[in-house]
Formats: sequence, C-alpha cells, structure tokens
Amino acid sequence: MYQSKIAGLGKYVPENVVTNDDLSKIMDTNDEWITERTGIKERRHIKKGDGNTTAVMGMKAAKIAIERAGISKDDIDLIVFATLSPDYYFPGCGVQVQEMLDIDTCPAIDVRNQCSGFVYALSIADQFIKTGMYKNVLVIGSENHSGGLDFTTRGRSVSVIFGDGAGAAVLTRSDHVSQGILSTHLHSEGKHAMELSLKGPSTMHWVPEIIKENPQGDDIPYYPYMNGQFVFKNAVQRFSEVINEGLEANGLEVKDIDMLIPHQANLRISQFIQKKFRLSDDQVYNNIQRYGNTTAASIPIALTEAWEEGKVKEEDLVVLAAFGSGFTWASAIIKW
Ligand SMILES: CC(C)(COP(=O)(O)OP(=O)(O)OC[C@H]1O[C@@H](n2cnc3c(N)ncnc32)[C@H](O)[C@@H]1OP(=O)(O)O)[C@@H](O)C(=O)NCCC(=O)NCCS
Repeated sequence: MYQSKIAGLGKYVPENVVTNDDLSKIMDTNDEWITERTGIKERRHIKKGDGNTTAVMGMKAAKIAIERAGISKDDIDLIVFATLSPDYYFPGCGVQVQEMLDIDTCPAIDVRNQCSGFVYALSIADQFIKTGMYKNVLVIGSENHSGGLDFTTRGRSVSVIFGDGAGAAVLTRSDHVSQGILSTHLHSEGKHAMELSLKGPSTMHWVPEIIKENPQGDDIPYYPYMNGQFVFKNAVQRFSEVINEGLEANGLEVKDIDMLIPHQANLRISQFIQKKFRLSDDQVYNNIQRYGNTTAASIPIALTEAWEEGKVKEEDLVVLAAFGSGFTWASAIIKW
C-alpha cells in the first residue's frame, strides 16, 4: 500500500463581487436577514463575457495547484472533477479540463455528490494512489451557481446563499506512512434526496414539457429546491457524526485537531459544530462571509486560503467535513 498526500493547492474565484445590498436591489431581501441567518456578506458571480465557466474556473485553480505541487501537467495520471453545475449535461467537466490543460489522454472522472463532492473526489483519488494504480491525481471542485439560480423574490431563500468559484488539489504518492490522507469516510442517505434538489431539465422532465406544465412560470422545477430547516437539522447531526467517525478510526480525539475545514454551508452550521466540539476560533476556518456557499468548491477554496495564510502547517492534523444534497456527507483526516 502507498500513502497519498496533498502536494499543491489552488483556487480561483471570479472578480465580480455581489454584496447583499446588490441582491436587495433585485429581490425582496436585505443585508440584515442574510447576515443573521447565514453569515454571508458577499459572494462572487461569473459576469457575462468574462470567459468563466465551471470547467474554466476549475482549470484556473488546477494550474495553480499543479505549479505549487512542482509537477508538470503531463505528470497527471487522473483528473477527478466534482461539480453540481457542469457546463454541459454531457460531456463532463473532467475531460474539458484535460483538453484545456493540454494533457494528452489521461482518464477523467466527474463526481456528482454536490456539497460533499470534493471530499468524495479526494477519497477516490486517495484510493487510486493507495493501490498504486496512479501517482499524481488532480482533484477539482468548481461551481457556476449564478448561471442557474432564481434571482427573483420567489427564489431568495436559495439564491442569496450560493456563489461561484473553484478549488483544486494535486494528490501525490508519498513514502511517509504517518503523513498525508490518513482516512476518508463517505455516506449517503437517498431517502432525503428531494429535500435539496434540482428536478429538471432531466430525462424525465425536458424543457418543452416544463414550459407546457408551467405556463405562468410559477413552481418552476428548473431552479433548485431546498427544505432549509430540514437540511440544517440533518447537517449539524451528520457533520458531528462524520468528524467523530474519522477521529475514532485513527485513534484521535477532538483535542488533536489543529484545523477543521467544514464545507461552507452556512456560518451558523459551522458555529454550531465549533461550539459542540469546543474548538477555538483558530481551529475552524470560515470564509463563507466572502464567497457564500460554493458547494463542491468550498472546501478546496477554504483549504487553499488556510494554507496560504499559514494556518495549515507541517505536522498539523487537518479535518475536512462536508454535508449536502443526496443527502451525502463525508470527512477526511489529514496529517499535513
Ligand atoms: C436557508 C436558511 C438560511 C433559511 O433560514 P430559516 O431560518 O430556515 O428561514 P425560513 O426559510 O424559515 O424563512 C423565514 C422567513 O424569511 C423569509 N426569507 C427567506 N429568504 C429570505 C431572504 N433571502 N431575505 C429575506 N427574507 C427571506 C421567508 O420567506 C420566511 O418568511 P415568513 O416567515 O414571512 O414566511 C436556513 O434554513 C439554512 O441555512 N438552512 C441550511 C441551508 C444549507 O446549509 N444549505 C446547503 C446545504 S450544504
């Protein structure tokens, strides 16, 4: 068995900053409501004509991660791309990035696990490295939420939360058995699948059909649906469980955590977890205030920033934890 470690990290967010006050000009919302319920002050949105797409942002984050890993794009053996907002229904964003990076013919996998997508992708990469099949795996999480949200008052409980951006990591084979990705833990519970979902367009629900069913444009199934309070309750429970599961699997305790990077779902969820585990402000990284919830991109963006700010250092115990649509939830225990 081999060990895998994160050798390089990168992030990219579009330049266009959208504040809560900006949103209050196009829908019935306000800075106070958004800040109090979610902690979000601003987020980034792709601007028409800026050239960004989910795959393009992923490629930009990936280039930085590859450079920081000190490898060439031709050393990449596999791309794993996590997103819920791909550029196309098919093909996936992974092959688009492979082409954009001008990598000859490496395999590319797209992962569809929403907010848990990056940790799922990291786990897939880790397994391929641990078995010895691949040496360097590029893992990307990227989202273009602004392209598919309802920016009218009807959609406000969802659209104020989500933002655009991308993060990436290069996972590489390592000789140090007690360093790197110690373990990953993945879960799903499909019975709650529709509580946070986007129903169409789909093969069951194609565009002309949707328009025919909704001539007035109400109850539109091509915008995301979220049962916010139900998601919240499940999130705080599952986050706690999966963090504990990861620690126990490695004979570790909460006091061993140097940095917890939770998926940036909602600042209130992160604060709940922090309080429950009695972690200090220095032990939990939050940047949702600046980016909103960027789904599969949120953990790699946060991890990259924490590393850039010197908050993730050699020998640190870093815990990644995520919860989201599916429902899916996951954690990764990393010795840096
Ligand atoms: C979405 C969320 C912030 C909503 O907060 P909430 O306290 O549950 O609020 P509710 O949905 O009950 O709405 C309360 C009121 O605010 C209103 N409201 C909703 N969105 C609003 C907005 N953007 N601005 C102003 N008012 C808003 C509602 O219409 C409702 O009004 P009413 O009481 O007159 O009916 C919260 O449920 C949440 O964070 N859930 C988890 C979401 C999450 O993490 N999702 C990602 C999963 S990874």
